[in-house]
Amino acid sequence: MPELWQSNDDRDRVRAATDIVRLVGEHVALKPKGREYAGLCPFHDDHRPSMNVVPSKQIFHCFVCGAGGDAFSFVQRYFKMEFREALEFLAERGGVKLTPRRAQPPSTDSPRSSRAEIVQASAFAAEFFRAILRHPEHGQAARDVIARRAISPEMVQQFGLGAAPARWDGLLLTVQNKSLDTRPFTDAGLFKRRDSGDGVYDSFRNRLMFPIQDAAGRVIAFGARKIDEADEPKYLNSSEHAAFNKSATLYALPQAQRTIQSSRVAIITEGYTDAIACHQAGFTNAVATLGTALTREHATVLRRLCDTVVLLFDGDMAGQKAAERAVEVFFAETLDVKIALMSSRTDAKDPDELLKREGGADVFREVIDGAIDLLDFRFRKLRERTRSAGPAALTRAITDEIKRLVELGLADQTPIRRKLIVRQLATIAGVDEATILAEIPAGRGGRRPAFEPRPNVEPKPGATSVDRSAAAHVLACVLAEGGLWHALSEPEQRKLVEGPWSSSALAEVAQAVSGVAAQGRDPGLSAVLSIGESTEFQQAAVALSQAIEQQSESDPDRLKTYFEQCRKRMAIETGQSEPAPNATGKEDAMSKLARLQQQHRELGPDRRVMPRPK
Ligand code: UTP
Ligand code: MN
Repeated sequence: MPELWQSNDDRDRVRAATDIVRLVGEHVALKPKGREYAGLCPFHDDHRPSMNVVPSKQIFHCFVCGAGGDAFSFVQRYFKMEFREALEFLAERGGVKLTPRRAQPPSTDSPRSSRAEIVQASAFAAEFFRAILRHPEHGQAARDVIARRAISPEMVQQFGLGAAPARWDGLLLTVQNKSLDTRPFTDAGLFKRRDSGDGVYDSFRNRLMFPIQDAAGRVIAFGARKIDEADEPKYLNSSEHAAFNKSATLYALPQAQRTIQSSRVAIITEGYTDAIACHQAGFTNAVATLGTALTREHATVLRRLCDTVVLLFDGDMAGQKAAERAVEVFFAETLDVKIALMSSRTDAKDPDELLKREGGADVFREVIDGAIDLLDFRFRKLRERTRSAGPAALTRAITDEIKRLVELGLADQTPIRRKLIVRQLATIAGVDEATILAEIPAGRGGRRPAFEPRPNVEPKPGATSVDRSAAAHVLACVLAEGGLWHALSEPEQRKLVEGPWSSSALAEVAQAVSGVAAQGRDPGLSAVLSIGESTEFQQAAVALSQAIEQQSESDPDRLKTYFEQCRKRMAIETGQSEPAPNATGKEDAMSKLARLQQQHRELGPDRRVMPRPK
């Protein structure tokens, strides 16, 4: 029996301390649906809730892309973690102390550090920078900046602010003193290689350090603000690496996540200090981009958490431009996007400055409440541009606008929104709606319902192409109800279930079923999930069991009847009569099975017996 199939005490304790509904619910808004919950699937471009979370089984399953598994799988896939990282993450979250592991030898064979090593190095550095900030001498300058900017001690703590000392080897000496490998630090962007080629030096010197966390709250990068006004640039940011994608990361997301979900609104600011100032003033649904333009990846993260995004811009020319670009990014998203411009109500240059003023929070609230719908904003600009234009210029402007909106996905908008857009354009152009409509090319998805699921996902082998032999159905029934294993006559029928399988994930599931049974336990889904680590394995097991649940409508009697049918069919297909004869040799049964499975494949799936798992 491979080690993989041994149940593990740490794992069981972490599992017991984890509730999948709460876990998933922290990252995807979930709505109750009978005894289950549903939300937007984070594993494909989902536009209506396709992912179910089933508390009674502690699993998630997407009926569009097939993603599925338990809490460990969810964490591995959502945060792109290895199994061990997921275990540690869930242990910490659930307050479970793991059995200490023997120290792992550093993996010197790979040319680049793993994500886990980079994340570890970043966490170490964050702790170092925090210690420097507290240091009586080396942290003084940074503490002065914090005091001058009136950042509260709570915010310093909550955002883990730190300081990089004013020397070339502050972090380096600490890393060397602890005999740590410098490579993950270099790969994390914390060290730079000397031009001479040998040795490294600190990337960040004499700066106020803002740790950037991913949605799981792990430090993955840093924003570093200059302390000495003479330094350049104002902010230095970690370069991108295996665990850090700048254009998908939102600063302050872990701190804001809860309020974004409960208020269903997110405020997006332009700077680190702006996001912190918002939190300090009680606007705890604020996040910030990392000095880059907003992307669809940002939108996708937020779409799973809330309905409305307020893009807060300072209001200078750059802000106006950014707002216009945002239209292009967000037009096709099923998110209400609003634009708020600081300059509409205040001369303060950014939220940080405003919120530090007397009565600033009230003005800030007005700015947010006065936010304009993205399209209104765009059309307002169009109106301004065309106000004094002649008829020819006006026509061209309107035609261009329609062309652009069509490119952005006008045809995929809901009929209501499309009508609204047409009406606004008609008003601006001073023509009737029919004239505008005539300009919109028909075809290309024009008649497609706006909320049709558009799974631009590749089918995952093992999940969507479940082997449909009767044995697969028997296996699926056993997953749905572990006790059915005992109804199989051994050893022939059990052997048939064990394989051979065309898909390796399915083979693993079958192996796990018989492994659990060999330990004297019923091999139902949760027992099987509790011993398999790979996400493909978990996905295959969940897909099988969910397909059967659908087939039997979760009715135990129907399940049992169906199981009996499949078991008989399996016996017939393999030439076994009931009860199974004991004389069949192992070789013979296997080759016969292979032949029959081949025949079965040629006959195609039996849709009458089991619907194709979607
Ligand atoms: P700002 O120049 O508006 O800075 O840049 P800020 O956030 O208001 O900072 P303070 O208040 O002057 O300290 C906004 C954002 O643009 C990115 C950073 O993410 C910053 O928070 N930025 C700015 C850089 O990445 N590099 C720079 O040199 C400047
Ligand atoms: Mn500022």
